[in-house]
Amino acid sequence: MKVIKVKNYQQLSEIASVMVSDLLVLKPDATLGLATGSTPIGLYQHLINKYQKHKISFKNVKTYNLDEYCDLPKNHQESYYTFMHKNLFDHVDINEENIHIPSSEGDDLEKRCEEYNSMLNRATIDLQVLGIGSNGHIGFNEPNTPFDQETFIVKLTEKTRIDNQRFFNSLDEVPHYAITMGIKNIMNAKQILLLASGKSKAEAIKTLVTGEITEKFPASILKKHPNVIVIIDEEAASLI
Ligand code: F6R
Repeated sequence: MKVIKVKNYQQLSEIASVMVSDLLVLKPDATLGLATGSTPIGLYQHLINKYQKHKISFKNVKTYNLDEYCDLPKNHQESYYTFMHKNLFDHVDINEENIHIPSSEGDDLEKRCEEYNSMLNRATIDLQVLGIGSNGHIGFNEPNTPFDQETFIVKLTEKTRIDNQRFFNSLDEVPHYAITMGIKNIMNAKQILLLASGKSKAEAIKTLVTGEITEKFPASILKKHPNVIVIIDEEAASLI
């Protein structure tokens, strides 16, 4: 696991975007694993900018998102489907059929998980972008998720719901469940790029960098992956 410390969020987003765009230049039909949340927004803005300057194209790029809330319609303003379209897909030349986001619609959620998992098992993710939860979650793999877990329905911890309350009008509105790639799916990616910014991530980054590998802290498994780059800003690095 290689850790790159940068000054601030702007630098983090810029460096991350260079890594993603270098891949897209080398491999225009690359498969990306994508994250939502606040952290990758700057990265996505830089990618949009590079697309507008004709430096990269998403025409042949395939994407697989990490997760989606349950109990929110696909077109809800806080669904991850809406997030990805608003923050990236609507602004680049990606083909809608190359976009994969777990679907939590319909009654048979187990079937939705199996379908997404089979798709992931047929794909090879060249680069997986990750954020990290303050409790060490990656995707929505909350503490004590088995390391061999594949796509599943997770009950979100109160900590995660409270962390994500900022996107909703009240805590009551934050979904209790989500569908997420499992840790095993994430570890199958050829390369992983984890981004963390701000003081609220400092404790998690300290545990990631200095702690043991344990299911109590899901991101710790990344130390076993051969190709992980962690980019953190000064605030996220403040406890190491
Ligand atoms: C998002 C995801 C989560 C977030 C994490 C950090 O798709 O899977 O693991 O990356 O909760 O979220 P932010 O970036 O909002 O701090």
